[in-house]
Amino acid sequence: MADLLRRAGERDRRVWMFDSFEGIPPPAQIDGPDALDWATNRNGPLYFDNLCVSLEEVQRTAVELGLISYVELVNGPFERTLSENRHRIGPVAVLRIDCDWYSSVRCCLDNLYDLVVDGGFVIFDDYYAYDGCAIAVHEFLGKRRLPHRLESVLGDENGIEGHQIALFRKGRTEWKWMSQVCRAHQEIAALVPLGSAFILADEDKWETGEFVLGHRRIPFLEKDGHYWGKPLDSETAIREVERLRQAGAAFIVFAWPSFWWLDY
Ligand SMILES: C[S@@+](CC[C@H](N)C(=O)[O-])C[C@H]1O[C@@H](n2cnc3c(N)ncnc32)[C@H](O)[C@@H]1O
Repeated sequence: MADLLRRAGERDRRVWMFDSFEGIPPPAQIDGPDALDWATNRNGPLYFDNLCVSLEEVQRTAVELGLISYVELVNGPFERTLSENRHRIGPVAVLRIDCDWYSSVRCCLDNLYDLVVDGGFVIFDDYYAYDGCAIAVHEFLGKRRLPHRLESVLGDENGIEGHQIALFRKGRTEWKWMSQVCRAHQEIAALVPLGSAFILADEDKWETGEFVLGHRRIPFLEKDGHYWGKPLDSETAIREVERLRQAGAAFIVFAWPSFWWLDY
């Protein structure tokens, strides 16, 4: 996350990292059998010394990566540090909750949910792994009567395929649409040679800028570089395609939901 901020040239945002740096507290009954098994099986491959990593080691790593100026490290139990520091954090774009057990997850939601901006993401690493995490999420949403839909995301963690997490987005819910448009942009970029212009018939629904990953996008219909509405009839469409072709457009992309093309 800090590296993304650096690459984006962001100077005013920080990654706030809260941890006791002492390993995780013991699980309780509510965390479920998998949690209790994990805690008793100290020789298990995922025990890693109770996930204990010192503050100094994390600081040293951040310095080595040149990222120390992008992070704020807060040392101590959430039960104290979150309420003490909440007022210093400011608006939160992504709240990533990766602390396993019911009481820790609840504590994070109770203290930090209200800081998440409209459109921000809340991510739960352990929603599928431990009962307590799932109970904390549902209890919090139920108590506040919040209608957020949980989405599950499959990814890999340290090369292990199939790591599944859950997330919800606060407020607006059109992020799936945005990610589809993003994927379509990547497909276009892979097919259209770099530097070529292409016509995008999307009835201006994609809200795409003038360039898509280095390719100039020409709206259809076009006037002075801007979208100019649907063609009146087939002749207009053909004439306009020809005009844009002569002006350098080498490709045409028909985008859902550009329904004019189905009718004509
Ligand atoms: C699974 S580890 C994840 C650490 C880190 N997010 C990462 O990916 O490397 C869970 C972390 O939550 C921390 N943790 C859990 N409950 C906590 C609490 N109540 N207060 C402070 N830290 C806690 C543990 O110390 C541990 O480092």
